[in-house]
Amino acid sequence: MNQNQPVLYIVTPTFARREQFPELTRLSQTLFHVPHMIWLLIEDTSECSPILSSLLERCQIPYVHMVAPMPAQFLVTAKKPRGVSQRNAALQWILTHPELPEGVLYFADDDNTFDLRLFKDIRKTQKVSMFPIGLMGETGINSPVVRNGQVVGFISDWFGKRKFPVDMGEFAVNIRYLTYNPAKVAMPFMVGYEEDGFLRGIVKKWSDIEPLAEGCTKVWVWHTTAEESLLPVINSRGGDSNLRDLLSELESTGVVGTTVTGPGIPVCPMDSDCI
Ligand code: UGA
Ligand code: MN
Repeated sequence: MNQNQPVLYIVTPTFARREQFPELTRLSQTLFHVPHMIWLLIEDTSECSPILSSLLERCQIPYVHMVAPMPAQFLVTAKKPRGVSQRNAALQWILTHPELPEGVLYFADDDNTFDLRLFKDIRKTQKVSMFPIGLMGETGINSPVVRNGQVVGFISDWFGKRKFPVDMGEFAVNIRYLTYNPAKVAMPFMVGYEEDGFLRGIVKKWSDIEPLAEGCTKVWVWHTTAEESLLPVINSRGGDSNLRDLLSELESTGVVGTTVTGPGIPVCPMDSDCI
């Protein structure tokens, strides 16, 4: 691998829920295949969780593990500026480490799905690059519109008077481009306007935007979302079998809760017709 190529700074905000551990397992194993990158995994909580620390240690990717909880005033609002605290912490981390090697910043949500070609492609970003993201909204796609190699507009199912009606997964930025005017590098805590506010702060002219993914004709990132589900609370009595340890393993990932009262999980013994 060419060590002179730009580093990828992949920023992932994450928060505790049932799907968190499986989703980060998938993402970490995608990123394992990406050379020359640093993964900034930033939790929406006050202390780094041990289960994520051990996931990071296992995954053999250079990483930074931080916390940056959502400010308390948003905990009570119906719509929340998700991941904004964490992305701002990552931006500050980059800006306050001028010794970092040249590279490209990309905001990779923990539930999105990435084609490895995306990471190869965004490494080329000189200023700000943009590209399609699939499974977005009712139309199934968000993308820049490209004519003669230039971004001339956007498709999205919601424009909302935004100058840059793009999703978080639809752009990447060369970190050099951030350092021109560090005072303007911030993501606003404004639901729906996080990307627009951030890009308005840094993009100087339309021609700075570089269309990627073969002229925005390929989809190499998907806005997937796991269906939210309730935490089942299961009786962890396992007698002398594997079940007690299995359930406690699963509990440590936050996927089930356990109790010692109530009925256990039904077991189908061998040589019986279980219905
Ligand atoms: C869309 C965009 O793709 C997000 O990048 C954007 O932050 C979000 O809308 C928004 O503006 O609210 P969506 O799938 O609706 O994404 O949001 P989530 O995937 O639920 O959250 C985005 C990121 O923030 C995820 O990495 C998630 O783990 C994190 N998050 C979410 C938190 O850190 N705290 C929360 O309370 C919720
Ligand atoms: Mn999402």
